[in-house]
Amino acid sequence: MYSAKPRDGAVWITGASTGIGAATAEALEKQGYTVYISARSKDKLNALASKATGAGKLVVLPLDVTDRNACKNAVETILKVEGALALVILNAGIFIPVRGFDLKYESFDKTMAINFGGVVNGLLPAIEAMKEAGRGQVAIVSSVAGLGGLKQSASYGASKAALINMAESLKFDLDPMNIRIQIIMPGFVETPATDQNDFPMPFLMSVQDAADRIVHGLRADKFEITFPRRFTWMLKFVNILPYGIYFSLVDWITKGRKS
Ligand SMILES: NC(=O)c1ccc[n+]([C@@H]2O[C@H](COP(=O)([O-])OP(=O)(O)OC[C@H]3O[C@@H](n4cnc5c(N)ncnc54)[C@H](OP(=O)(O)O)[C@@H]3O)[C@@H](O)[C@H]2O)c1
Repeated sequence: MYSAKPRDGAVWITGASTGIGAATAEALEKQGYTVYISARSKDKLNALASKATGAGKLVVLPLDVTDRNACKNAVETILKVEGALALVILNAGIFIPVRGFDLKYESFDKTMAINFGGVVNGLLPAIEAMKEAGRGQVAIVSSVAGLGGLKQSASYGASKAALINMAESLKFDLDPMNIRIQIIMPGFVETPATDQNDFPMPFLMSVQDAADRIVHGLRADKFEITFPRRFTWMLKFVNILPYGIYFSLVDWITKGRKS
């Protein structure tokens, strides 16, 4: 399957101002890619761009992924300036803890608008451009939380499960179009998003390790990029068990929670 090279065109990463997106942008720039970095915080994007090594380029393209036109314009800008969009990493996402005794519509609306709607807003113009070019690579950042229900993840897990299903479904059509689609399913990674977690995070990884795994996975001929693999396989295994065992095991794994 197609795998984007620096000479093929630009990379676009959403949610690149901090965490996994920022670290992946830096890693790809070091390898010679021209990377367009998007998020809402222009200052943080500028600070990241100033760290470019010169091997490639980091180009700031601030936007809110819930703004459909802004996403469309971003792809048009990249095509106009660079000629081609070779790789898109749709990574922007948020985590809002949800508790069953304090349900709020906003938690669900906001999470779905950014984590799922935001991916769709970037995906459609990117696929359109890649269809024209006859090649392209798309990576969507989901989470192991999309594999099954976890505590506090009623909105987050649902949004990430939707992304896994969407990517699986699209693969059937995109493969024959020479557009490679991959799903990225990280376990726990040390970023501003996980700093807020008040429960034990098994196999917590550094953001640098996560970015290295992503860059490696983008070149490997696999649909799924997941790490740490031990954690993913553990979760995949508990998900095929009867619900009685599933709920007890997940409860046990996440015991130690403060609230
Ligand atoms: N860290 C983990 O353990 C972990 C595990 C599994 C999956 N993930 C997924 O990995 C992705 C990155 O997470 P992270 O841990 O690196 O979190 P993070 O450091 O909080 O980064 C999230 C990024 O998304 C951007 N973002 C949020 N809302 C946005 C919007 N409406 N429009 C544009 N950009 C927006 C943020 O920038 P602005 O606020 O500047 O817009 C930021 O750049 C997320 O999809 C997350 O669900 C993370």
